[in-house]
Amino acid sequence: MGKCPVCNSWESFSEEKAQTNNDLLPNNESFPQLLGKIANENNLRIPTGIGEFDRILGGGLIKGEVVLVGGEPGVGKSTLLLQVAGLISKKNKVLYVSAEESPQQVNFRAKRLNSDFNNLYIIDDDNIVNIYRYFEEYKFNTIIIDSIQVVYNPEIDNARGSINQIRKCAEFLTRFAKTKGVSIIIVGHVTKEGSLAGPKVLEHIVDCVLYFEPEPSSRYRILRAAKNRFGSTGEIAVFEMTSSGLREVKVLSDIFLPHKDNPVSGSCVSCAMEGLRPILIELQALVSKATFGMVRRRSVGFDFNRFSLLAATIEKRMKIPLAAQDIFLNVAGGVRITDPAVDLAVVCAIVSSFKEKKLEKGVVFIGEVGLAGELRPVSNIAFRLKEAQRGGFIKCYIPKGNVKEVDKGTYSFDIVGLESAKEVLNLTLGGRI
Ligand code: TYD
Ligand code: MG
Repeated sequence: MGKCPVCNSWESFSEEKAQTNNDLLPNNESFPQLLGKIANENNLRIPTGIGEFDRILGGGLIKGEVVLVGGEPGVGKSTLLLQVAGLISKKNKVLYVSAEESPQQVNFRAKRLNSDFNNLYIIDDDNIVNIYRYFEEYKFNTIIIDSIQVVYNPEIDNARGSINQIRKCAEFLTRFAKTKGVSIIIVGHVTKEGSLAGPKVLEHIVDCVLYFEPEPSSRYRILRAAKNRFGSTGEIAVFEMTSSGLREVKVLSDIFLPHKDNPVSGSCVSCAMEGLRPILIELQALVSKATFGMVRRRSVGFDFNRFSLLAATIEKRMKIPLAAQDIFLNVAGGVRITDPAVDLAVVCAIVSSFKEKKLEKGVVFIGEVGLAGELRPVSNIAFRLKEAQRGGFIKCYIPKGNVKEVDKGTYSFDIVGLESAKEVLNLTLGGRI
């Protein structure tokens, strides 16, 4: 307007931008500073009280950190986070934003967990701007959002759960966490198809991404750190779903080594590094003559392409006719292994099943197998050997290339370094294959 209708003065209007929700948050008042001069705050980590959860976070939640916990519906995300919220709230001010369930429903679940929730705040609001306002009033230092798919930012027109709404909400929450030093844990549902309408688009926004690996058939739940700015990735934690919530599983051998004491043909033990942690796992193969002309190959828990490559290597280098055989491969316990050091165990499991001969009892097979059937050295051999010894194994086949790194005096069991997978098989199956 040129003229003010109230005071009649001309050109007295000045333009001002309407306030948006983003303006609620102050900009980070940053300035260039020397990295070496930045004080290290020791009390930065908030331990959650669940040891395994803390371990994959890298020692606890960090002030201002945003963690995404993803997984299929029903896997136990809300259960885990309610347990975590209850434990942290003993010493911190925690808000559990239950946008999916009413406080009564959450309370019903809390009753099953036999834990103390007296200091935990809960709200069923789904407007993230309101959540920020509660923070201003109550000064929470940890906030849990369950889930990102049902919260919304009123400024964004898109529907709840749409990619745009999810991304904008996550950006708002991240900025909120960083500027106010609040730790925020976000739950994100992963759809059955795997292409999650949600979590995947958030991975680059948040600091830490934890996924529950799909293992619908068992009561065990595997949580894996897919990304962690403040810890190591690839770490896994195993939980068991009980009638009173999730319980951490510290001794993994019962789950992952079902045939440790009574080996069967086609089962073979190896030691894989998951993050910084060595775990003993059992590879199981089933080889049987194909009945309908078309051979079937399936692999569960191990990369299918790598499995096909190893099957081809066995056929060509060891002259074992697998072309007309169905081959199924499974990693016991439902864990997914990406470490190439289990190649040797895959090869041995397949040949053992084909020959219907058991492998030696109490032996661990470690080594990457190349296309020529050669055994290539693996990383962290000492960690793996120690774990094998701790697990009560009596012998270990390893790549010859690793032998010089091994101080045999520190181990009380047999360590055999060999050059090819074929040599290992000849030894372990007793005779020429
Ligand atoms: P939930 O934690 O709600 O999964 P999400 O939030 O990932 O969708 O549900 C986990 C499942 O576990 C549900 O089917 C019920 C079951 N459950 C138990 O077996 N024991 C318990 O103590 C609780 C709380 C749930
Ligand atoms: Mg839930």
